[in-house]
Amino acid sequence: MLSYRHSFHAGNFADVLKHLTQTYIINYLNRKDKPYFYLDTHAGAGLYSLHSPEAEKTEEYREGIARLFATELKHPLLKEFKTLISSFNTAERLDFYPGSPALAAKLMRPTDRLQLHELHPNDYQLLTNLFQQDKRIKTDASNGFAAIKAQLPPLERRGFIFIDPSYEVKTDYNALIAAISQGLERFATGTYAIWYPVLQVQTTDAWIKRLQKVGLPNLLKIEYSPLPPTSGLGMTGSGMLIINPPYSLAADFKNLLPELNSLLKQGDKGSYLVEELI
Ligand SMILES: C[S@@+](CC[C@H](N)C(=O)[O-])C[C@H]1O[C@@H](n2cnc3c(N)ncnc32)[C@H](O)[C@@H]1O
Repeated sequence: MLSYRHSFHAGNFADVLKHLTQTYIINYLNRKDKPYFYLDTHAGAGLYSLHSPEAEKTEEYREGIARLFATELKHPLLKEFKTLISSFNTAERLDFYPGSPALAAKLMRPTDRLQLHELHPNDYQLLTNLFQQDKRIKTDASNGFAAIKAQLPPLERRGFIFIDPSYEVKTDYNALIAAISQGLERFATGTYAIWYPVLQVQTTDAWIKRLQKVGLPNLLKIEYSPLPPTSGLGMTGSGMLIINPPYSLAADFKNLLPELNSLLKQGDKGSYLVEELI
């Protein structure tokens, strides 16, 4: 039985990097009229109240999205992101934080199609309730890794696969590599974005090296850590791996990360990197 609930973590520093990347890619795909398919393999509940008992228990959003709300932002992409999050809230108050499904649903067009997978029965129910009126969206209570093989290639021949596991089960790391291999066999031109936690730097790097061996067309790594790396306990940062990224993504993130770091660092300094791996 899965015990991870994203409601404890919604809007934290990792979500900010994750959703900045996700929405950047969606906005990029929206530049062409042609419809596309969005697959969210680990969708969560879709939208989160920041006043739920879970959010109030951890208050992780205070070191994430709340810091962007407390400041006059400079970088246009950060400003745009704040405006987007504001659109789920009223006035200047921060009461809700959208998950990846709500962000995708808000930005995608009437002709685009969304497929959302979520295994946790409670979160699956919340997700389904949230989107029951939206004809573009299908929710599915089955395994998101298996969905990569089952759903690809998309009829549209344009697609974005967003993979955001909780890594609650250690086998997720291998399952993800196998799923990416199957996905690329079927749909080599799709854009794939994978979120990962930075726990122990060496273990994370070794896993990324194994992923690269699948034979990726190209891979961009963006990592942001608000905390210094420690001997290994807890999540000190997180990263995004993007296969077939928009050509402008690396340069734009190199530009915005210094400001993001000045907002989100915990202590003297955080660290960030943007690396083209292949
Ligand atoms: C990090 S959360 C997702 C957050 C969401 N993507 C967002 O950005 O708002 C990971 C979710 O994956 C679900 N999950 C775990 N293993 C899964 C699997 N194999 N297939 C589908 N969902 C899974 C968990 O129940 C959890 O809700």
